[in-house]
This record gives sequence, C-alpha cells and structure tokens, in this order.
Amino acid sequence: MSYRNDPYDPKQVALLDPAALAAAVADAEQAFAAAADPDALTALRPAHLGDRSPVSLARREIGALPPAAKSDAGKRVNEARRAVEAAYAARAGVLEQEQAARVLVEERVDVTLPYDRRPRGARHPLNVLMEQISDLFVGMGYEVAEGPEVELEWTNFDALNIPADHPARGLMDTFHIAPPPGAESSGLVLRTHTSTVQTRAMLTRKPPIYVIVPGRVYRTDEIDATHSPVFHQAEGLVVDKGITMAQLRGTLDHFARAMFGEGAKTRWRPHYFPFTEPSAEFDVWFPEHRDGPQWVEWGGCGMVNPRVLRACGIDPEVYSGFAFGMGIDRTLMIRHGVSDIRDLFEGDVRFARALGAGAA
Ligand code: PHE
Repeated sequence: MSYRNDPYDPKQVALLDPAALAAAVADAEQAFAAAADPDALTALRPAHLGDRSPVSLARREIGALPPAAKSDAGKRVNEARRAVEAAYAARAGVLEQEQAARVLVEERVDVTLPYDRRPRGARHPLNVLMEQISDLFVGMGYEVAEGPEVELEWTNFDALNIPADHPARGLMDTFHIAPPPGAESSGLVLRTHTSTVQTRAMLTRKPPIYVIVPGRVYRTDEIDATHSPVFHQAEGLVVDKGITMAQLRGTLDHFARAMFGEGAKTRWRPHYFPFTEPSAEFDVWFPEHRDGPQWVEWGGCGMVNPRVLRACGIDPEVYSGFAFGMGIDRTLMIRHGVSDIRDLFEGDVRFARALGAGAA
C-alpha cells in the first residue's frame, strides 16, 4: 500500500537510476544510428525524446525524491537528456548530408547535353531525287518545265493522240473533275502522266526544245504496297533537227548510270504509246539491287509521233523528237530497297532523314 506522497518508493524512481539512464542513452544512440534517412530518424524522436520517453519519465520522478537527492538526480537526468539530444542532432546532421549528396548524384542534370528546341525535319526523299534528276538534265542543256496537275482532257489525251475510245480514257484509270451544275463534263482531269507537258512545252516554245518535267500524277489505283493513286514521274522531251532513236538510247543509258551506278544500262522492249512512234518500254539493269543484280521496269519512251508535232504547230518534215517518262517513286524504291510505296507518303520524318538529304 502506498500513499500519494509516499516520499521514496524505489520502484517509482527506478528510472532515475544512473544505470537506467545510461541504458536509455545507449538505447537511443543505437536506434538513431540505425535510422537510414532523416524521415526514419524523425519517427524515432517520440520514443527517445517525447513525453513518454525514458528521459522525460525520469524527470517526472524527481519530484518524488527527498529534497537532498533531487539536485543530484536532476543533474543526471539533464545530462542524459542532453546526451540523447546530442546523439539525435549528430545523426540528423549526418543523414541530411548523406541525403543532400545522394540528391546531387541522383537528380543530376547534364546541362552540357546538346538539344534542339524544335525537332529538325528533313527534305522529302522524292523532292531530293526530283532535284537530282533535274540537275542531271540541266547539266545536258535541258530546261525544267512544269504543268498543272488539274489538266484539260484535251492536253492529257487528245493532243497526245489518245483517242476517245482509248482504255486510258475510261473511268478506270482517270480521276475526272466533277462537272459544273447542269454541264455534262468539266473537260478536266487530274493528269495521269507528265506527258501533258510535252504539248504545253511545244505550244509555248519554238524548237530546239529540250525539257525535263518532274511532277506529280494521279491514277485511280487502289493503295497497296506497289500502287498509290498519286505518284511521280519525270518526262523528257527533245525536239530538234535530226533527232534519232540512237540519241534517245544514249540519253537513257546516261540517265540510268546517273541513277543506278556505272554498271547500269537499259534494255528496250517494243511497246505502244499513241503519242510516240516507234515506242518502247525500257528496263534498267541495277547491279546493286537488294535481291541481287537484275533488270527492273523503269519507263516508256519513243520518237514523238508526227501527229503530235503537227498538233502543236511543228513541221515533222523539218523536226523530229524523242520523249520518255519514268517513275520517280519506283526509282527511289529500287535504289534504296524500299518495298512498300506507302513509306513514301506516310510522312514519317525518320524515313525522310534516312533517305532524304543523303540519297545520292
Ligand atoms: N506517259 C507514259 C506513261 O505514263 C510514258 C511515256 C512518256 C511514254 C513519254 C512515251 C513517251 O506510261
């Protein structure tokens, strides 16, 4: 039985025992040392320095001591508390430094890395190739000519000796421009070949005529790996005195070597085009083809049909000419082993970067 003011209950004041205080300090030091980061250390504070911690409870016990013992006990408790506080502060300092050092390493930003605010694009490989073709022919004295993509039916067909019942005039191949209200026909189409510029060049120039025409053309083809309703051709036209097929052959062989390397050459197969006579289709021998050296179809050509010359006001008794047309998309695909024409039109800048500027 004990009274409230019972002056000296050894059990009550057990916390004031020097050994108990030393153990509390040692406990705290050990716990603080085990804390891995400042948060873990903060979480230990209540247990070792809070109201219910051994050093706080010990202080409360001082009141129960006889006056003579109070001063000594007070000193011991204060010392113990200061020791725990000091251990806490020391560990906190170490952990903060460690954390700061870790943040410096982990959150390091290399401000010397090069950067581009705006991602850089690339010229489209088709444009680069059309420019190379133009340059090649300009180097031989040709002029680069252009024509509209929305074209008169007359220019696309009639002037080129393609009669109204020719299959190419059927709805199958040609995009027709819708007629104005009430009219039966607009008389306009999306040009199906760059040969339209043959007549345009002949109607606006006097021989000698040497033109190269790179440009976009349209046909109602379903999109698949090798077909696109929009593609590109380059047309060549020469009208001068004494022009022969031998010159056409030499020109195409030169063109082939420029596009496909020194080992390239052309092979001709008889063909029919209404606007050339005689006509041929030509293949190119590409020694570095992805699937091994081989012949690949490249384009059509022939001597300008005298009827076409006459339709353009040029006397076929005085002048003769040759013309050729080939696919630019095809050329690009063959040269670079591109197996899907859709890659040319999807606008992925990685494709343009890979084949664009450096496509030589
Ligand atoms: N225009 C023809 C085509 O698109 C190619 C060609 C051009 C043929 C010039 C002969 C002369 O198929």
